[in-house]
Amino acid sequence: MTLKTRREPARTRQPVMELIAKRWSPKAFRPEIPKEAELISMFEAARWAPSCFNNQPWRYLVTTREDPEAFSGALACLTEKNASWAQNAPLLAFQVMGETFEYNGKPNPWSGFDCGLAMSQLILQAESMGWSVHVMAGFSRDKVRETFGVPEGFKPLVAFVIGKEGDPDTLPPHFREEETAPRERKELGETVFSREWDRAFFQERPD
Ligand SMILES: Cc1cc2nc3c(=O)[nH]c(=O)nc-3n(C[C@H](O)[C@H](O)[C@H](O)COP(=O)(O)O)c2cc1C
Repeated sequence: MTLKTRREPARTRQPVMELIAKRWSPKAFRPEIPKEAELISMFEAARWAPSCFNNQPWRYLVTTREDPEAFSGALACLTEKNASWAQNAPLLAFQVMGETFEYNGKPNPWSGFDCGLAMSQLILQAESMGWSVHVMAGFSRDKVRETFGVPEGFKPLVAFVIGKEGDPDTLPPHFREEETAPRERKELGETVFSREWDRAFFQERPD
């Protein structure tokens, strides 16, 4: 399967799965809302993520433009900057993290890690079906708590939108540039070490 995207795929040192190379976080979206069956596939993919003690600390609050009241409640939780582009996405959601282990009620230091793994599975499943996901930290936790009645022991972790890549010309100019810029990452030598901190595990790139 060849995935469609208008952004250049990641330039990788060795081949990686097409899904990973082509995934990115758009800000311009088409209005089409994912069908329920498609959404179930995405959340199923997240459901089967590994987690510490199989605690499955992830919860989700999902709104779509089909329910304008819920969607605008969710939108009001975002920072102004994020809301300015996310308002055109068809689906806006939050991932909420359980802070304790269910089996003993003690704090779970790995909850954030578990939630990240689940989100990554959701993103790749979405991508495989032609949908893009854009995760956001720019929102008010307190507003999410108030708006959706999030109970004690749960913490809103990230906001995210799901939609089909749209036309960057629909965005204000400063966002448009980001939307088409080359994709950048640190080199592996800066993040993968051996023997001691900062000593690269992999040899320098030969080119
Ligand atoms: C935890 C997290 C928080 C993020 N917060 C925001 C945000 O508030 N606003 C935004 O536009 N993008 C946000 N992003 C998207 C990142 O900026 C983006 O993933 C990064 O620049 C790499 O680009 P790419 O996903 O297109 O490869 C966030 C991503 C993550 C994982």
